Amino acid sequence: MHVWLQPYTDRTADIRRCLQYAMDRKRGGRILLVRLHGEWSGVAVVNFTGMKGYIPANVLVYLTVNPAARGQGLGTELTQRVLRACPGDFKLHVEYDNPARRLYERLGFRTKYAEYRFQR
Ligand SMILES: CC(C)(COP(=O)(O)OP(=O)(O)OC[C@H]1O[C@@H](n2cnc3c(N)ncnc32)[C@H](O)[C@@H]1OP(=O)(O)O)[C@@H](O)C(=O)NCCC(=O)NCCS
Repeated sequence: MHVWLQPYTDRTADIRRCLQYAMDRKRGGRILLVRLHGEWSGVAVVNFTGMKGYIPANVLVYLTVNPAARGQGLGTELTQRVLRACPGDFKLHVEYDNPARRLYERLGFRTKYAEYRFQR
């Protein structure tokens, strides 16, 4: 995932933490994997927030497709399956220059706020 997410990748430790969160029974989420022609070709990871309303129930933290399998609709299909698999609203973070924004907007995601972070 660290490689496939480039150039929008996170530190491996953060990706691992996100996967552990999704697999933790008390917190939870969903991990969807695509296997195409015998190759792992895509992955989507959702973390449940345990909230609803002012904080959406689901964060689509990672969506990535093997570069060799892009442009065939796998990213769209994965996102649609994620939306069906998880009840409640979604949020996600995406860099302003990431072409994935077109995919999300085509599926009905809309920007609501600019996000600011105070990092320590
Ligand atoms: C975003 C990503 C999952 C799309 O996967 P995909 O299987 O190619 O997606 P689809 O074939 O369903 O749709 C392609 C759409 O993705 C968008 N897209 C995202 N990255 C793209 C890229 N590098 N090149 C071309 N299109 C890209 C385009 O908007 C395209 O929409 P269009 O058909 O309206 O032009 C894949 O490009 C990827 O893994 N990117 C790196 C990780 C990333 O940025 N993830 C999203 C933020 S967490």
